[in-house]
Amino acid sequence: MAGRPECVFDAAQIREGVRDLARRIRERWPEGGLTLLCVLKGAALFAADLARELGDGLELTFVQARSYGKSTVSSGEVTLGEFEDEALRGRRVVVADTIVDTGLTLSRVVAEVRERGADAILTCVLVDKPVRRTVDVTPDLVGFTVPDRFLVGYGLDHDGHHRGLPYLGVLGESADE
Ligand code: IMP
Ligand code: MG
Repeated sequence: MAGRPECVFDAAQIREGVRDLARRIRERWPEGGLTLLCVLKGAALFAADLARELGDGLELTFVQARSYGKSTVSSGEVTLGEFEDEALRGRRVVVADTIVDTGLTLSRVVAEVRERGADAILTCVLVDKPVRRTVDVTPDLVGFTVPDRFLVGYGLDHDGHHRGLPYLGVLGESADE
């Protein structure tokens, strides 16, 4: 019975954050010709907006990752779905996730992308929660840094809810009972 999530970053702030990340990707790789790897499901909205900001000349690919289930705390086990290997081999790959918490998901995804022969990898996250890190991983590009709060909206869920919210918000107390 958490009610309506309280806004932390509104749609305009998110748009500006995404725009800035796209600008920084283009600065790092001005020649274009990159693959954008979207870590599903949470990064579906972020990657769509980032792709629009990056414009023409990118390949879009996806992998599904799971670790949270119904909880607001990572299970510590990340299950990854299939990668589209041809989209990664010999390519410059931007790994896009909306949020990094323990770092398990990002480090697992990066290891798999490297194993598939990516030419270069840039990790790009909209929100970083560095205080929660259990794995030594630092995203290359970060939009916003937040303290230890469980966020929902803009693709992020709590037990399957709130993904469609156009802003990032926090649930009231006791969302995890
Ligand atoms: P990590 O593996 O603990 O770094 O968590 C990464 C994944 O967990 C993200 O891709 C999200 O799907 C999910 N996640 C982490 N923190 C949050 C949050 O605050 N709200 C919703 N999902 C989160
Ligand atoms: Mg989730």
